[in-house]
Amino acid sequence: MIRLQKFLADAGVSSRRKCEELILQGRVQVNGKIVTEPGTKVEGSEEIKVDGEVIRPGRKRVYILLNKPTGYISSVKDQFSRKTVVDLVSGIKERIYPVGRLDYDTSGLIILTNDGEFANMLMHPRNEVEKVYVAEVEGRLDAEDIRRLEKGLDIGGHTTAPARVMIIEESAGRSVVEIAIHEGKNRQVRRMFEAVGHPVLRLKRTAIGGITDSSLTEGKWRHLRREEIDMLRSKYGSLER
Ligand code: URA
Repeated sequence: MIRLQKFLADAGVSSRRKCEELILQGRVQVNGKIVTEPGTKVEGSEEIKVDGEVIRPGRKRVYILLNKPTGYISSVKDQFSRKTVVDLVSGIKERIYPVGRLDYDTSGLIILTNDGEFANMLMHPRNEVEKVYVAEVEGRLDAEDIRRLEKGLDIGGHTTAPARVMIIEESAGRSVVEIAIHEGKNRQVRRMFEAVGHPVLRLKRTAIGGITDSSLTEGKWRHLRREEIDMLRSKYGSLER
């Protein structure tokens, strides 16, 4: 027997806390009866509905935050047998896959999951999930370069949406720049800096939708915390659940 909110959360309805709310709001039925007591125990074989929709028992959902080193591709398999981000996550039985992509030569944070809805939520352009990158680029950016990056510029067939840009460090031949974007065009950050004449030498992603972890070293991973999953869902989830 498991608690009703856990059954619902495991089925992918929403976070456990949100599922408790659904129960309290009288939106959950067990075998045709509305149940408003969150602790209610169920076998899992009952007919359980949320807003009238039958909920099937779910597999375990897994949410992982990985700090990808360069030299790994962001897919499950590679046609050229290169190492993939999934190879870096050992001991997970579920079939996880990366949410979006980081280039082979880009390092930094990437989320892996087996929850398709969660992955879609983070990738859907409408949700404008902010990704923060730290780029080491050639040369120094002047005010006009920064203005163009911030305002949006043509990267060949696409005009970028507004971005946030902050210079972290400058020396004669190179600069370290933080840039926050919410789009995910192919090699977008590299193409943006290319377009202002400052090619990227190194690129690292430091945050996804407010999730960050400077203590996670390259090649290491951890499970996303419940509060982090809830935060992403409440920020970007379109459903009331
Ligand atoms: N922009 C890039 O150019 N590369 C990445 O890997 C991610 C964003």
